[in-house]
Amino acid sequence: MCIIAAEVPMRAVDIIEKKRDGETLTHEEIHFFVNGFTNGEIPDYQTSAWAMAVLFQGMTPKETADLTMAMAHSGDVIDLSDVVDLALDKHSTGGVGDKTTLVIEPIVSACGVPVGKMSGRGLSFTGGTLDKMESIPGYNVNLTIDEFKHQLKTVGLVLAGQTGDLAPADGKLYALRDVTGTVPSIPLIASSVMSKKLASGAQAIVLDVKIGLGAFMPDVDQARELAQRMVDIGLHADRKVMALLSDMNQPLGWAVGNALEVKEAIDTLKGQGSKEFADHCYEVAAYMLILAGVAKDTDEGRKMAAGAVQAGRAIERFTALVATQGGDASVIEHPEKLPHADLVQEIPSPITGSIHQINAREVGLTVMQLGGGRERKGDPIDHAVGVVLHHRVGDKVQRGEVLFTLHANDDDKAAQAVQRLLAATKISQKPAEPLPLFYGSVWPEV
Ligand code: URA
Repeated sequence: MCIIAAEVPMRAVDIIEKKRDGETLTHEEIHFFVNGFTNGEIPDYQTSAWAMAVLFQGMTPKETADLTMAMAHSGDVIDLSDVVDLALDKHSTGGVGDKTTLVIEPIVSACGVPVGKMSGRGLSFTGGTLDKMESIPGYNVNLTIDEFKHQLKTVGLVLAGQTGDLAPADGKLYALRDVTGTVPSIPLIASSVMSKKLASGAQAIVLDVKIGLGAFMPDVDQARELAQRMVDIGLHADRKVMALLSDMNQPLGWAVGNALEVKEAIDTLKGQGSKEFADHCYEVAAYMLILAGVAKDTDEGRKMAAGAVQAGRAIERFTALVATQGGDASVIEHPEKLPHADLVQEIPSPITGSIHQINAREVGLTVMQLGGGRERKGDPIDHAVGVVLHHRVGDKVQRGEVLFTLHANDDDKAAQAVQRLLAATKISQKPAEPLPLFYGSVWPEV
């Protein structure tokens, strides 16, 4: 007699319990769960319970790769191979004052490598590239896939929002994680970032993983683990991926706030910005040029990046980008045409000493409260408001010397911002060390 075992249908609750008990999920179980919550068959409460189980129990690299691929294929998957030889991209895990995309993409394009990027909006204390670009009057971030491809082919540079229905599973899961305390999980962050990158057609990606007070990863060890997980997913998906680990304890660059950051990006592209911020951008650009096969090492990549700025080719590329996407390119010569706030106020240091901390998260939250960021998706924002820093961690300051310039459009909010910025800044008599720009790099483990 031959006994044929009846196939037991999968159930979401069994998968949740399995993960709760620390077991490893199979490829089939992960796909079943992702398909289920994407099409609404698995309700939000079960998806949230599962996310919490993943947060506590973690996932193996294989489970994380399976989750990424299932989310990447939950919607459209763009193929850019008909318009570029290599679809090159960069991604920052998010931070405060991070306007690097506005600088790096034109630099890389000026070095002869086309770059098309689908960016996001700011949420909570972190800024978003689309909001920054929308400070430029007329700039259109909404392109169709065909428009995106056409511009990538003809102009060699695109900076737009997400087109089509990319990784809808991530959109749904991220919204639930945001309100259930399940964002800071390495496998969930890694699969969220990489599923969007894979769906958007990127074949080579430089990841900028942020560390510190204004980042999801508080320390170098956790950031390295997240970075390793993401580059290994890239290897598994047959993409070239490497990651840089960079500081986000204090804001990146000098400006925080949409229009103020656009102005800093323009200055940097003209070679008139700060050396420190330019160095950060040249480093990321150098790794993109290495992945693209046009620079043999970081030395050469950095030189190519700096050369593109000095020769005026990088700002030329940014001008072409703005004009092609309908923006008023005259802001590049006349930044006074960018939105500007009514109230501009200098904040002096209350004491003499050395700066030990300028808490990036607190500066980001200050700008958000001034109206420059949003609490909920879809909230309107004020592009003009923000903060310009005058010092960095490690600097000595005298009592009365300017620490920040505040740009606000509301007296009460400005008064609160002054208190918050002063509380975010730790000054003491002991000497303070400057913070590094980078903490290292991570490559696939082969
Ligand atoms: N950025 C993402 O896209 N996803 C996360 O989970 C965290 C940061």
